[in-house]
Formats: sequence, structure tokens, C-alpha cells
Amino acid sequence: MSRRPTRHITPERLLQLARERFGVEQFRPGQRELIEAVLRGENALGILPTGAGKSLTYQLPALLFGRPVLVVSPLISLMQDQHDKLSELDIPIAKLNSTLKTSEERELVEEMEEGTHELIYVTPERLENPHYLELLKQQRISLFVVDEAHCVSQWGHDFRPAYLGLRDAVRELGRPSVLALTATVTPENVDDILKQLGIEGARVIQLGVERKNLFMEVLRTPRAGQKREFLLSFLNREPGVGIVYVATVKKAIELHGVLEGAGIRAGLYHGKLKAKQREETQRRFMADELKVIVATNAFGLGIDKPDLRFVIHYNFPASLEAYCQEAGRAGRDGEPARVVLLYRLEDKRLQTYFLGGKYPARDESMRVIEQLRALIKAGRAGEGIGIPALASAAELSERRVKVTVAQLESAGIVQRAHNRVQPLRDVRDREELDSLLGAYEARRKSDRERLELLMHYAQTPRCRTHFVNAYFGEPSEDSCGHCDNCRAHGAQVSGDREQQTARRMAARESAQQLERLIASAVPSASDSRAVKPSA
Ligand SMILES: Nc1ncnc2c1ncn2[C@@H]1O[C@H](COP(=O)(O)OP(=O)(O)OP(=O)(O)O)[C@@H](O)[C@H]1O
Ligand SMILES: [Mg+2]
Ligand SMILES: [Zn+2]
Repeated sequence: MSRRPTRHITPERLLQLARERFGVEQFRPGQRELIEAVLRGENALGILPTGAGKSLTYQLPALLFGRPVLVVSPLISLMQDQHDKLSELDIPIAKLNSTLKTSEERELVEEMEEGTHELIYVTPERLENPHYLELLKQQRISLFVVDEAHCVSQWGHDFRPAYLGLRDAVRELGRPSVLALTATVTPENVDDILKQLGIEGARVIQLGVERKNLFMEVLRTPRAGQKREFLLSFLNREPGVGIVYVATVKKAIELHGVLEGAGIRAGLYHGKLKAKQREETQRRFMADELKVIVATNAFGLGIDKPDLRFVIHYNFPASLEAYCQEAGRAGRDGEPARVVLLYRLEDKRLQTYFLGGKYPARDESMRVIEQLRALIKAGRAGEGIGIPALASAAELSERRVKVTVAQLESAGIVQRAHNRVQPLRDVRDREELDSLLGAYEARRKSDRERLELLMHYAQTPRCRTHFVNAYFGEPSEDSCGHCDNCRAHGAQVSGDREQQTARRMAARESAQQLERLIASAVPSASDSRAVKPSA
């Protein structure tokens, strides 16, 4: 039963098309392999560094299929970015997200019915809506793209329950082939992503994470006010534009005020701003009207402004994955750029606090299970219950309930059909109950370890690139030459003997710690499918 469109096209014609429509000279590493896999109708996962050009691997095929390519995208800012770029290239796209007004939506639906769009961008939350799903079904989607696919993994950062429903959406849409793309995935998450998307046999093309033109620095700022001093002097000194990331909306607003007060042209971007305000800030930033944008992680993933010269982290992000994604906004034109992490030990507390609320606690999952039991008892299992009703009965947020339901679904205890949850059976025994309720404890532990590893990244006296590569299971040299530690060590060769010995011992100890931590947080790669194309 293959309804997948495949297209035969010669390599010369493919490159010619890329040149004509996207203005690229040559394919970059990994691009051709992915594009050819997509055109053959295969499922694929592409793990290419930030800025490597993953978008082209579905945008080019979209011109050849004659039926729309669906792109699941996590952020409105990213959709906006892609929309603006593709419009300039005369490639019509549709965006389905929460910012649409009813009238705009009606217009979009009409256009879709006329088959105007080669690409349709959608948030995973919109795909949970049966109305949109039906609409997309009528479009006979040629390819299902999951951009920023690390969001799919239950173990990934930025965990969003709607991502757990993508596998169902692929099925509902008649199983088009799937292309998943990301820059940051640890070996264990590769399998999880493939499983969550139902594409276990997919072709995996992996090129690593390293960005040689990024100079990676960490500055410890123990004294209050030190971060601010650094930032102001950095912005006054450094030419070029960039991003400053902070951990909370409150901090973003405060820091934005400080920068404006100091006469710096600064924009503000966070998830609580109105869509119009966000769009406007993004537009001004892209048009070089701003020196810097102060942002939370609502701005970042995938954003492509080629000439960013710096990305500064004013607070700790949650993990090295998040750090690399955000830092990866810098230097996408291949020119040198600086990525600086400022840290105080206090920052860790804030992230630990965020982690506390991320997953359902035991008693919360238990409340959902009890509601489902009651449904079985009342003989209404077949009829099921909608998520909002289940959430209010269990006195939980819908988000929480979705996470628990996804877990029960993968254990075969419930099924989701037409947006309702139908219990299939009761929890078998104590043991099963225990394993269900305990599952998120493991996740919480893994998150804590990942945060811990980011602290180690900040504190390591060794090469930072080496650390990042080890984290992502990539082989690398001991020293990269583009991080502060490598530079300092290079300059220290003539330092006194005692100092050198002390440093060597510290390096060895930290290497051992890293290995231990990585071994416990990131189980070793069992994946033999990974292909490393030569160029
Ligand atoms: N073959 C190519 N030659 C030259 N430039 C290219 C090529 N492919 C892509 N680019 C450019 O590289 C930039 C980065 O591409 P893109 O946004 O697709 O990166 P990405 O891999 O999706 O990164 P991220 O992981 O950050 O989302 C874009 O400006 C794009 O136009
Ligand atoms: Mg991208
Ligand atoms: Zn280095």
C-alpha cells in the first residue's frame, strides 16, 4: 500500500533547480542525501548542525511533488521567518497556528482548497484539532516534515505533549513519508524520535553538532551586577547584532528596560507578548533596525538571520541541547561569531525550579487513572471522554492530562479516537501501576542530570567543543581551537610547571566526571543505522 509520491530527477537537474529557485551554488554536506531519500519516498531523519541548511531538504522537494508538503514547526517566530523567506522566493506557503483570526483562517482554507500552497506549516497543537486534520487530509499531503524533531522525544528539552500525537496524525493523513530534522539529539533520543513517529526503519543521516566558526566562552560572574556590567560593555564594544537569552519573561522585560535606558537599540521577545508585537520585533530585528534582541526561548529554534555576531546567555538554559540550539543562531553566514554563557551558581536553582513542574507527579497520574476506571465501571468505556472533561474531573490542566494519556496509550491501556480517550482495559496489577507512576521520576532524574551536565560544561577547564561532542556521542579531537579554554591553554604553554600540573590534574578529574555523568545520563549509542556521508 504505497501512496507515497516518488520523483525521479537527475542529479544535474536537481542542482539546477536549487540554483534557480534558492540561489545556492552547491549542495552542502548531507543535503543531497536527504533530498534524494525524500524524493524516493523514504522515511528519513537528518541530524545536521544548526545553520547547515536543513530547510532546503524539504523546500526543494516541495517544488517537485505537485502536492503540499506539511511542516510541523514548534514556534510561531520560526514560521514567520520561513514565511518571509519563502515569499521572497515566490514560493507560496500557508501557516496554521494560533495567531490566525477567523477571517484569515477562512481565507486560508479557501486557498488551500484551491491547492495554492506548496508548503503548509502547522504547529503540533493545531494538528490535534480534528477539523484541521480533515482539512489537511483533503490536501493529500506528499511529505510530513517534523522540523526541530528533538521536540518529539519525551526525553528531549522543550517537552510538549502535542508532539506525542504526531504519530497518530501521520496515520490519519494516510501515511505520507516522514522527514524528521534536528541539530541536537543524543544517541538515546534518536531511537525515541523514530519510535514516537512510527518510522523505526528510517534512514538516519548524521553529521554532528560542531560549528567551527563559533567561539565558545563561559564567564563566571559571581558578584551581583557583574552580568549587567559585562553585557553593557560588550554591547558598546562589539560591532554587529545578536541575541541575549534570559530564562524568564520577567527578566526579559527588566533587562530590555536596562538596555534601552543605556541607549541601546534593543527589542523584546517573549511568549506573553501579543502576536502582532512579536511579529513587529522580529521584523525590525531582521531589517537590522535593532542592535540586540532580549529574548526567552520563545525566540530561537530555527531562526535564520545569517549575520548574527553574538549570542549571549544571561541565564542558564535547561540543557546543552537548548544551549546549542540557541547559540546556533550565531554566525550562520560562516563568519566568526561569539557565543558567551554567563553564569552564577544561583542560576541553576531557577532551572531546577522549572524542572519541578514539568511532568505529572504520581498522584496526578493516579487521578487520571481513577477517572478512567470510573468510566469502565459505569459501562461507558466505548463512549470515552474528551480531554477537557477528563482534565476537569481529575482537577488537572489539559497539558498534564495529555502527558498521562499518551503514557497510558503507549502501554495499551487507552486509545485516542476522534479526540476522545477510550479506556481499553484497567491497569493490570500493582506492578504495572508502579511502573506507570514511576516513569516520570526517571525522566525528572534525567532532566536533573542534563542540567548538571550543563554546569559541568560551564566549569570544565578542558575544551568545550570536546565536551559538547562527547555529550552528543560524536567523536572529536581533544582540543578545538575555538573555545576559551583551548585558547587559554595555548597561551599558557610557558606558564610555570606547578600551575600546569594542577591544570592537568583538574582536566583529568573533570574528564572522568564527565564520562561518568554521560554514561549515566546518556546511554551509549546502540544505533548502527547512522550514516555519515563523506561530503
Ligand atoms: N547549499 C547551500 N548553499 C548556501 N547556502 C545555503 C545552502 N543551503 C542552505 N543555505 C542557507 O543556510 C542558511 C541556514 O539554513 P537553514 O535555516 O535551513 O538551517 P537549519 O539547518 O535549518 O538550522 P537550524 O538547526 O538552526 O534550524 C539559510 O540562510 C540558507 O539559505
Ligand atoms: Mg531549521
Ligand atoms: Zn576547545
